[in-house]
Amino acid sequence: YGSTAGLVQRNPKYSTLNDEDVSYFEGILGKKNVIQDEERLVAANTDWMHKYKGSSKLLLQPRSTHEVSQILKYCNSRCLAVVPQGGNTGLVGGSVPVFDEVIISLSSMNNIVSFDKVSGILVCEAGCILENIITFLDNEGFIMPLDLGAKGSCQIGGNVSTNAGGLRLVRYGSLHGNVLGLEAVLANGTVIDMLKTVLKDNTGYDLKHLFIGSEGSLGIVTKVSILTPPKLSSVNVAFLACKDYIICCWTDQNCFNTCDVLMELKRLEGKLLQEAKRKLGEILSAFEFLDIQSMNLVLNHLEGTRNPLPTMHNFYVLIETTGSDEAFDKQKLEAFLLHAMENELISDGVLAQDINQSSSFWHLREGIPEALMRAGAVYKYDLSIPVDKLYNLVEEMRTRLGNVANVVGYGHLGDGNLHLNISAPQYDDKILSQIEPYVYEWTSKHRGSISAEHGLGLMKANEILYSQSRETVQLMASIKNLMDPHKILNPYKVLPHSFSS
Ligand code: FAD
Ligand code: MLT
Ligand code: ZN
Repeated sequence: YGSTAGLVQRNPKYSTLNDEDVSYFEGILGKKNVIQDEERLVAANTDWMHKYKGSSKLLLQPRSTHEVSQILKYCNSRCLAVVPQGGNTGLVGGSVPVFDEVIISLSSMNNIVSFDKVSGILVCEAGCILENIITFLDNEGFIMPLDLGAKGSCQIGGNVSTNAGGLRLVRYGSLHGNVLGLEAVLANGTVIDMLKTVLKDNTGYDLKHLFIGSEGSLGIVTKVSILTPPKLSSVNVAFLACKDYIICCWTDQNCFNTCDVLMELKRLEGKLLQEAKRKLGEILSAFEFLDIQSMNLVLNHLEGTRNPLPTMHNFYVLIETTGSDEAFDKQKLEAFLLHAMENELISDGVLAQDINQSSSFWHLREGIPEALMRAGAVYKYDLSIPVDKLYNLVEEMRTRLGNVANVVGYGHLGDGNLHLNISAPQYDDKILSQIEPYVYEWTSKHRGSISAEHGLGLMKANEILYSQSRETVQLMASIKNLMDPHKILNPYKVLPHSFSS
């Protein structure tokens, strides 16, 4: 294993699956939706990174909310632990069993229920694959306010349950704003209908928010209602190179006022984002960054990729604009780029000339997780940190680890979200002890979040106190206790073991 979370013990209070259980499930779902096939179980027991592996003997595929309800009611009465699973693209070990929990896959619940072309409100089942929703909306002249590299596999129920952020949060905001309602099944099988399709609804506590980002620990999301914006005609993508702010300091032994130089250069990086927000305003739809180490990984591990700029630079930014007036938007973006060039905020850059070129720019950014996977074992940290300090952590980790691992930094700079990834030939406890708890302590010291968008899962269940107060976690544990008293839903995840057992 590659994480301290691997030290968890199976809780003996959970029952072990028996033949009667299997027969019961076959009775309600039909034999073909009760899966015991070895190969399919291996896939469902293993996470996307191949870092977390469970040993579940059963995968259930309900086709309706009623079937989900019947499954949970039974599991609750038998004290059988379960793991809700969407596309299994989660990155914190939340979507796979830790031990022998029953896997409940939402894949067969993949229908669009309704779409209102006037309001742009979509209602769909939780198992709809994000990319299918994007294509459906595109045909209707609308867009999904959420997009991410895993769109081909992840499901909207998984996205909502992780409160996924993705590539355009800077423009459209989080799912807490875009999800208007949902339907969920509680641990005891009760179906909670909160599937609202109105924008404004102040009738009591807005409980849907409990299910957004709770990673399947409070209920299974079965349907979602989302507000989708109209598709706008003009999209531009620029791939920019920025001034390097690392090398001048750490290699130049004669640089006496390194701190001043560093501060100035960091100010410039922050300034590019600030200027983009100011000068591009309402048309800015993405502000992503990657460092040279990330770029090298992609170029080395993903076929057909190439650097769009003639030389390598230490830092790259991808900026996208989306608006309704092609000439106006282009003029705005070009004026911004000229200003950035003149003020030396960027050292080079290229504007995509067609859709193929913009896709190739996006591929460089979205391909980083896949390239990291191909490079070996990955330690992944998904952090919110004030933008001006965000890259300091990457530099500090490089110093700490020397040449035992490749430290890369990329992420959603527009949201202050750093993806700090440490790539090594294989998982190694010595490397892990150099990284944790240092990364969490550092983030906490800067009042950041140890999970910006991926969730806590198994990986960070015991680290929540770095980002939340003890009293807050205690309240979370009380809510969990109320909604899932037997703790059958996604055990060992999200909350620390000391609060949740
Ligand atoms: P799963 O991985 O199957 O599950 C994730 C969690 O949600 C688990 O705890 C699971 O138990 C629970 N869950 C799943 N479905 C349900 C349901 N219906 N009801 C209740 N609980 C449920 N995340 C981001 O935020 N931004 C990104 O830009 C981003 N990019 C990614 C790129 C790649 C290449 C990959 C592999 C992952 C990326 N992720 C990103 C991480 C991941 O969180 C998202 O891919 C996605 O939101 C997970 O959806 P899923 O359907 O795969 O859920
Ligand atoms: C991304 O932004 O690419 C995703 O969150 C995945 C990752 O962090 O690797
Ligand atoms: Zn991300």
